[in-house]
Amino acid sequence: MDVYEAVKTRRAVRGFTDRPVPDDALRRVLAAAAWAPSGSNIQPWRVYVLTGEPLKQLKKAAVERVTAGDPWDERQFQMYPPELKSPYGERRSAFGIQRYTALGVAREDWEARQRAALGNWDCFGAPTALFCYIDRDLGMPQWADMGMYLQTVMLLLRAEGLHSCPQMAWSQVRETVADAVSPPDDLILFCGMSIGYEDPSVSVARTGRAPLGDTVSFVS
Ligand SMILES: Cc1cc2nc3c(=O)[nH]c(=O)nc-3n(C[C@H](O)[C@H](O)[C@H](O)COP(=O)(O)O)c2cc1C
Repeated sequence: MDVYEAVKTRRAVRGFTDRPVPDDALRRVLAAAAWAPSGSNIQPWRVYVLTGEPLKQLKKAAVERVTAGDPWDERQFQMYPPELKSPYGERRSAFGIQRYTALGVAREDWEARQRAALGNWDCFGAPTALFCYIDRDLGMPQWADMGMYLQTVMLLLRAEGLHSCPQMAWSQVRETVADAVSPPDDLILFCGMSIGYEDPSVSVARTGRAPLGDTVSFVS
């Protein structure tokens, strides 16, 4: 698969089959993704991969916790500014409309939206997930490094015929994740990532993108 195809076919997949992710494919992906760039090559990402019984237990604990209405864990970073200014607020609203329209859920149907969001805690059915941490002492440039690393993982997964969904939602229940992976205290959970084969029967929210001129200026 060429890089353009990997970029174009990667999307946040929210419906996976239970077909196992081959261990050798996953190891190939993670070994290759380690070549992602980082400032001064400090490689600030720290990843835990869960599958089998440990992932099953984590999903169960998270679903139970969220269904019981447990409050989220104290935040270690702000997911979004409280007031998402223009044009970001409009883009977020457009995404919400695309996502819930694909699911046939009305915007004002809060319960149905909550049910859909619950899929996060089941990794949307994926048999494998990774959890990506970063040291709390590192700063914005290193968080950007981590993003490049995660995108590298997602593109390489495409080359293996696999799909993914990055999920910051997991940071909301970071203590439940910590119970499963026992990270050192100096690490912050940025996100989870569900990994597996797409379930073609699940409706897809194909997101759009801003016109190129809105995000890129060519100066010559
Ligand atoms: C850092 C990050 C965190 C995300 N967190 C979630 C999440 O918690 N749950 C979810 O369903 N999607 C999540 N997404 C997926 C985005 O909604 C998705 O990437 C975006 O809408 C663009 O759609 P596409 O990836 O299908 O092109 C996340 C994406 C990124 C990059």
